[in-house]
Amino acid sequence: FQFKLRRPKNFPPGPLSLPVLGNLLNLDLKNPIMDFEKLKESYGNVYSLFIGSRPAVVINGLKAMKEAIMIKATDFAGRPQNMFINDITQRKGVILADYGSFWRDHRRFALMTLRNFGLGKTSMEERIHEEIQFTVSKLEENIGKTLSPQVMFHNASSNIICKVLFNTRYDYEDGMITEIVQCFVELLKIANGPWAMMYDAFPWIRSLPLPFSKAFRNMETFRNISKRLVNEHKMSRVPGEPRDFVDSYLDEVEKSSNDFSEQQLLGMTFDLYVAGTDTTSNTMLAGFLYLLAYPHIQDKCQREIDQILEGKDRVSFDDRHKMPYMQAVIHEVQRFANIVPLSVFHCTTKDTELSGYSIPKGTLIIQNMQSVLREEGQWKSPHEFNPENFLNEQGEFVKPEAFMPFSAGPRVCLGEGLARMELFIIMVTLLRKFKFTWPEDAGEPDLTPIFGATLTPKPYRMKVQLRSEQS
Ligand code: HEM
Repeated sequence: FQFKLRRPKNFPPGPLSLPVLGNLLNLDLKNPIMDFEKLKESYGNVYSLFIGSRPAVVINGLKAMKEAIMIKATDFAGRPQNMFINDITQRKGVILADYGSFWRDHRRFALMTLRNFGLGKTSMEERIHEEIQFTVSKLEENIGKTLSPQVMFHNASSNIICKVLFNTRYDYEDGMITEIVQCFVELLKIANGPWAMMYDAFPWIRSLPLPFSKAFRNMETFRNISKRLVNEHKMSRVPGEPRDFVDSYLDEVEKSSNDFSEQQLLGMTFDLYVAGTDTTSNTMLAGFLYLLAYPHIQDKCQREIDQILEGKDRVSFDDRHKMPYMQAVIHEVQRFANIVPLSVFHCTTKDTELSGYSIPKGTLIIQNMQSVLREEGQWKSPHEFNPENFLNEQGEFVKPEAFMPFSAGPRVCLGEGLARMELFIIMVTLLRKFKFTWPEDAGEPDLTPIFGATLTPKPYRMKVQLRSEQS
């Protein structure tokens, strides 16, 4: 009887692991980030764990992270298969596709189509501005009152991606979209949560009616809606004249390649929707929470916005080059909020090495993003929210190398451009028009997030005032 699972030769060190359970008892499955940080103190920046009997390597700190995902890039660019998230999505898409031609073709197609539908041009800005009008109206209805911004921000980022995918947007009160948004908020809490870890560790529990079953039901809801939208597109499309992502993909299916199929189209719409909604909206939620907690930082943003946009009716993405403080604040929000805390799990594509250790092909790779985004030595104030982290002595915006909330290397987030545009245009537009304050009767702001595939701020309310009407 073996009392511990054996590590392969020259494998990164790590805590003693138990048969069957592996290291699950070493981790607080509700939020393992602090445990990952503690294990780093004992075993160094590259260490190993067993998730059940599956060996995993956790990467910490900029140096090891760069070596893995940027320098040895393709060696670390795989995705593990046969895990909870693969099973709920039931297809490859792009996020979970393993390294290879299927992933490469779909990633290239998604980037090209995002560009064709306006990313990098003014048309995407136009869509974002159109959507903000609805957000502004929602806020105007609440002047002098307090409101919970969660659903509003989710709907705004959901609509921006729905416009690209399906050429449609949904009213903020629309029952269907509220249901979808809710499905995803739940889904992303289940993924990376304790039940998903158990699912990955103990294959024999997979068919039992345990709490992870809810994620399968949520997924079905999205799949049915997506199927309906794709069918509607098939009826109304004109081949060769795409109106949106779905039309472009259907054109591609007709052109030939076996990899492009209607089944995979559902996977792609799911991936872009899920990756593009919860991440961006939670970044905005975190951003506004910090600006409520630090009103002097909100004031300073507004002074810069007023000065740079004087005489202009609206902000453009190019204005960011003249707004170092605003840029620093948005980057600091992303650094401090660490919205995708374990990135998306990677997997080695061949036998390789990292920091002198040997890592066999097929090893699960976990990026501990906090270990870089808050690494001592990389930041002026690693552990507190402080826009000075992105400003030099002349007050110019600078971006340290350790800023990698979108990860890096061949798997770097493919929506980075869109996300950055959304965050800048939405935050500037809202801060220009409104002043947001923490309600007097709500106690102190709590910046501690809730763990899941995304880190999300605890629900909060904010008081809305028109800036022109105060002082
Ligand atoms: C992957 C972060 C917004 C689409 C990722 C990854 C991270 C990330 C950390 C994993 C990279 C890796 O595996 O190394 C973020 C953050 C966002 C954001 C922080 C917002 C603030 C978006 C948006 C879209 C998107 C708006 C869609 C248009 C994707 C896709 C992947 C991905 C498709 C998978 C790429 C691949 O596997 O090749 N993102 N993301 N993301 N993201 Fe984002």
